[in-house]
Parts: sequence; structure tokens; C-alpha cells
Amino acid sequence: MAEVRKAVFPVAGLGTRFLPATKANAKEMMPVVDKPLIQYAVEEAIAAGCDQLIFISGRGKRAIADHFDVSYELEIELEKRGKTALLEQVRNILPSHVSTIFLRQPYPLGLGHAVLMARPVVGDEPFAVLLADDLMLSEPPVLAQMVEQYHRYQAGILGVEEIQREHSTRYGVVDARPWDDRIYQISGIVEKPKPEDAPSNLGVVGRYILPARVFHFLEQTQQGAGGEIQLTDAIAHLLNERQVLAYRFSGQRFDCGDKLGYLKATIAFGKLHPEVGADFTQYMDSLCEHQAPVETVL
Ligand code: UTP
Repeated sequence: MAEVRKAVFPVAGLGTRFLPATKANAKEMMPVVDKPLIQYAVEEAIAAGCDQLIFISGRGKRAIADHFDVSYELEIELEKRGKTALLEQVRNILPSHVSTIFLRQPYPLGLGHAVLMARPVVGDEPFAVLLADDLMLSEPPVLAQMVEQYHRYQAGILGVEEIQREHSTRYGVVDARPWDDRIYQISGIVEKPKPEDAPSNLGVVGRYILPARVFHFLEQTQQGAGGEIQLTDAIAHLLNERQVLAYRFSGQRFDCGDKLGYLKATIAFGKLHPEVGADFTQYMDSLCEHQAPVETVL
């Protein structure tokens, strides 16, 4: 079975839930501690063996391309000032064996439409899709776990997590039955169902491994939930033809497209940060101990 070498990053969304921060800046460039969301996703893809990164970009997202490009002026300046550690960090954002391709989604017509833009570059190979606003905290990284499952079962894999039923309108929800450890056979999938219509409590998160055949169905997919061309709807059609499995990954996911999720991620990643983690943890603990009202803390 073919290796998963291509990773698609749809980054053309409007990020309306994070306005005004996303008015002129890409949501995917928002930092959690000191790294933009997109860099976490890229590192996860590379750790899973992907070496061709395909970004589906849109208006106002130029900073993403710049972030993964060489910044001569910055490098020269850091070198002059003797800031070698920082210089190494900046230089190593992308390992030399990894290549990037930037494509445009002319209109934000939905995630499915964004993924379809990658077709000419992905060709006939299986590929991964990573939504950078779903930030993962896990070891091994979530996509690497999924690649392992892909090789074991030789099928498309959707990353899922257990959700609260009342939150079903935020997710694609699978109709699935347990099959193996953390693995579920999927018989259907529906985008943003009402809680009473949700077929299970397993919601799809922003990690997919898909066969190229999904493009065939994406091409035929009409506007679905929210008036957008949904990846979920194409996967629903794909299921009539071949097996796709749900994998309940090990780890924690933060929805950084949402303010509360982003704040939670900042706390979790801040506590683990090699430079500031210990002091930050102490600070957080002191806040909890004193239960100081916010006004006195500020
Ligand atoms: P979201 O559902 O989070 O949409 O997209 P959004 O526009 O980014 O954010 P909100 O809901 O308005 O706040 C999930 C992922 O799909 C990408 C987004 O960039 C995000 O990574 N996307 C979405 C596209 O690339 N194109 C689209 O047309 C829609």
C-alpha cells in the first residue's frame, strides 16, 4: 500500500469566530506560546512521514508562505547579534527533505472545496488532511498514530473523539460500531447534526487520511451544511464504495478556532514549555490557591 507522503493543509477559511484578530491576520498564524498553529500541524505531518506539504491558501494568508520561506534579513541580523539558538530555530522550521506547495482557493466555499483544490498535486496517492486550528497534544503525534492504523487496516482513517451530544452541531459525526482497539467501522457520516439526530457520540476532528478517490466524490458534492461544500458529504459517498475507519486517537485536542479552546491550549502548552513552563505552572498554581478575583490579579 502506498505511503502517505502528502499532507494537505486547508488554510483558506475566514476565521470568523476569532474576529477581529483574524481580520487582517491568518487564524493559522496565531501563536500558542511561541509557535503559530500551522507550525504545530506541519511538525505533526512531518513526524508522521509526510514530506510534501500542500497549503490551500486564500486572501490575507501570505504570512503562512512567508513563515515557511527563508528569511535572509532576519537570519543575517540574528547571526550578527550572535543569537545562535534563535537562528537555528528559525532555520529549522522546515527540514531540507520537505517541500511546500501553495495553492489558492479563490472563494471560501467550504472545507471540501478547499481539499478539492489539492487534486492536481495529490494525484492518485493517499493523502493526509490536517486542520491547523485543531491543535493536538499527544505522544506519539496523532497523525503518526493514524498512519500506523492506515497501514494496519489498509483503509482511509478519520480521527475521532468522544463528544458531548449537545455539541454535535460543531462536528461531522460518524455512525460507527467498535471493531478493534480504538477502531470503529463506519456505516455513515453526517455533518453538524442536531443532537437528536447525531448517529453516535464520535465527532470527527481535523485529521484525515483519505484515498485519492475522495476527489471524485468531492467534484460532485453540492453545498451542504452551512451552505458549504463539505468534506463529510464526499466521505459519505466514498463509504458506499470502500471502507473508511474511525480512529479514536490517544491524546488531547484543542479547538483553537474557538476562543475558549485557544485559551485552554495556551495554558496546556504554556505549562509544558521548556523555557517558561515551570514558572508558568507555578503562577497558575498560585492563582488557583489564592482564588484571587480577576480584578486583583490584573
Ligand atoms: P472552519 O470551519 O474552522 O472555518 O474551517 P473558518 O472559516 O476557518 O472559521 P470560522 O468558523 O469562520 O471561525 C475548518 C478548516 O477548513 C479551512 C479553514 O481554514 C480551517 O482550517 N477552510 C474552511 C478552508 O480552507 N476553506 C474554506 O472554504 C473553509
